[in-house]
Amino acid sequence: MKMHAVVLALLVLCFASASTAQGYDALVRDAEVKIAAGKWEEALALYERAFKTGEFSHNDFYNAACAGARLGKIETAYSYLFKAIDTGFLDKATLASDADLESLHGGGTWQAVMDSIQRKMAFVEKAFPEIRAAGPVIDLPQPRFDGAVSVEAALKNRRSIREYLAKPLSLAEVSQILWAAYGITATRENMPAFLRGGFRTAPSAGARYPLDIYLAAFDVAGLSGGVYYYKSETHQLVRVVEGNPRSALSEACFDQPHFKTASAAIVYSAVYERCMVKYGQRGRDRYVCMDLGHSAENVYLQAHALEIGTCAIGAFTDLRLKKAVGMTREEEPLYVMPLGKVK
Ligand SMILES: Cc1cc2nc3c(=O)[nH]c(=O)nc-3n(C[C@H](O)[C@H](O)[C@H](O)COP(=O)(O)O)c2cc1C
Repeated sequence: MKMHAVVLALLVLCFASASTAQGYDALVRDAEVKIAAGKWEEALALYERAFKTGEFSHNDFYNAACAGARLGKIETAYSYLFKAIDTGFLDKATLASDADLESLHGGGTWQAVMDSIQRKMAFVEKAFPEIRAAGPVIDLPQPRFDGAVSVEAALKNRRSIREYLAKPLSLAEVSQILWAAYGITATRENMPAFLRGGFRTAPSAGARYPLDIYLAAFDVAGLSGGVYYYKSETHQLVRVVEGNPRSALSEACFDQPHFKTASAAIVYSAVYERCMVKYGQRGRDRYVCMDLGHSAENVYLQAHALEIGTCAIGAFTDLRLKKAVGMTREEEPLYVMPLGKVK
C-alpha cells in the first residue's frame, strides 16, 4: 500500500514536471486542437500558459483573441488582438470577416483595432522599395532552369576569386546571376503585398524579403555603364545611377584590387524594417543577415556554374557605398560581390 503510494506520488511528480516543462510549441499545438474542437476555455488557458514561457507569435496572439471573444471575455480578446497586430499580424481581410470575433464588432475599440492594423500596413508599405529614379527599364533575358554543373560540383569547387579576365559579361549571364540571387520562383494569387511578387530562390524569414539588390555594370555587353536596381517582381533592371561606377565602388571598398578587372558587381542592401515589423530586434540581430547569406551563396554557386568568379566583400565605407549606388536613406549596405570571367 505504502509502496503503491510512493509509485503513485512519483508518477504524479513526473507528469506534473512534464506538463510544467511543456514548451511553447507543444502548448500552442494543444491549444490549436482545442480551438478546432471549439473548446475555447481550454484553448485560452493553454495559450496563456504558452505566453508565460516568454515566447509568442502574432498568429498565436490572434488565436487567443478569438478564444477570448468566443468566451465573451472582451477585454482579454482586445488585449490579444492589439498584441497580434503589434507583433506583425497584417491580415486585415481575415480580421474583418472572422466569425470568431463577431462579439467584438461595432464600437470604438473595434474601430481602434481596424485603425491600428491599417497604420501598421501603411508602415510596412513605406518600407517597400520605391523606384528610386525614373531611369530606363531593361527587360532581362529569361533565366535558365538547368545547367551543366551539378550543385555538388559547385559546392565543392567554388572559391572566392579576386582577379578576372578583362572580358565583358553578357546580359544573359548577369540575368542568370540576379535570378539566382533573388528571382521569383513561385507566384501565388492574392498574396500579401509584403511578399513583393512571390517566393524566391533564397529563403527569407517570414517571407519578408528585406534585401534590395543592385547591379553595378562596368563592362556588360548591351548595358551602358551604371547602377541598376534589380526588380525581381518583373525580372527587370531599372537604372538608378548613370555613368560607369567602377571607381566609385572601388573607392567605397578601400580600393580592393577586385575592381581593377571585375566586369560588374552585385551590391546588397537591406531595409531592416520589413523584417523588424514582424520580428522586432531579433529580425535586425539575426534574420536579415541570414537572408543575405542565403542569397549571396546562391550567387557564389550560380557564378561558379557559369565560370564567373565572385568574392563577398564586407569591408567598405557605408556612406560612400550608399552614395555610389544611389541607395535610399532607409537602406543599409551589406555586401558587394564583384563579378568577372574566371581566368
Ligand atoms: C562576411 C564576409 C566578409 C568578407 N569580406 C571580404 C572582403 O572585404 N574582401 C575580400 O577580398 N574577401 C572578403 N570575404 C571573403 C573571404 O575572405 C573568403 O570567403 C574566405 O577567405 C574563404 O575563402 P573561400 O570563399 O574561397 O572559401 C568576406 C567573406 C565574408 C563571409
